[in-house]
Amino acid sequence: MEVIKVFSPASIANLNCGFDLLGLSLEGIGDEITLRKVPQKGIKITSITGADLPLETLKNVAGVAGMAMVNHLNLNFGFEIQIRKGINIGSGIGGSAASAAAIVFGINQFLDKPLSNKELTFYGMKGEALASGSEHADNVAPAVYGGFTLITSYSPLNIVSLPVPKNLFVTIIRPHIEIKTKESRAALPINIPLNDVITQSGNLAGFISSLYTSDYDLMARSLKDVIIEPHRKCQLPLFDKARAAAVKNGAMAFGIGGSGPAMFSICKGKKAAEQVEDTLKELYRNSNIQIDSFVSKASNVGSKIIS
Ligand code: HSE
Repeated sequence: MEVIKVFSPASIANLNCGFDLLGLSLEGIGDEITLRKVPQKGIKITSITGADLPLETLKNVAGVAGMAMVNHLNLNFGFEIQIRKGINIGSGIGGSAASAAAIVFGINQFLDKPLSNKELTFYGMKGEALASGSEHADNVAPAVYGGFTLITSYSPLNIVSLPVPKNLFVTIIRPHIEIKTKESRAALPINIPLNDVITQSGNLAGFISSLYTSDYDLMARSLKDVIIEPHRKCQLPLFDKARAAAVKNGAMAFGIGGSGPAMFSICKGKKAAEQVEDTLKELYRNSNIQIDSFVSKASNVGSKIIS
């Protein structure tokens, strides 16, 4: 085995109640990286398609994540990689994390003693930091593990996989604007009122409980964000109208995908998710705001070898 191709999925981070802690992998959309093992040490990016990104290893998220792993493990071989971006950078569904996850997952296939998903996430975070200015794992973890992931601690890193109830679908809409995660994070307040912390902690706890019991009412009540969303939603066109329309037409919850501009609706069943998609497409069409959209199952599948 000298050449493999890896797919890593898009993901939604935060999910309203779990800023920097919760994430979910999506189905059918993601990045692909082809890795060729070569005798020269290090990572050489030979091509990138689907996005205009730097080929220089240390200016590229995948390059940085891969180098962190290669250097730390002191590998006496290296890789030439080709990146095929299926997710735009800055769109809010984990584009940088998917590339970071794909390279660390791919390198792992060439090791005598493969690393755990948690260790892979640790190296993936180094790449994510290049894009967002901070080593958050709420996109990298679902892109590696698949399904719902919960970071229970950053120091030391600890990640728990949560159950994915059957029949959970997500509608994603992406306005055609770019939001840089680094800038979006820099604008967040440092101090949070105690009451908001209590409300948000209750929401996170309620959401986790709802996944174990498939309690969709509790899930809908818990997928709320009183801490981050009020500071970010002003950047998203028609956010409040879109939420109202989505919820009125069958969404259990609506929110910002990571730092945006993607917005997600969580729905019970594919039909409901498609109905929400149609409603939101009409809302934005009538307002002359360009978006694209898709429906995805809440996926259980993370990074995988595709050839
Ligand atoms: N938790 C991160 C943030 C996710 O909201 O800044 C970025 O995709």
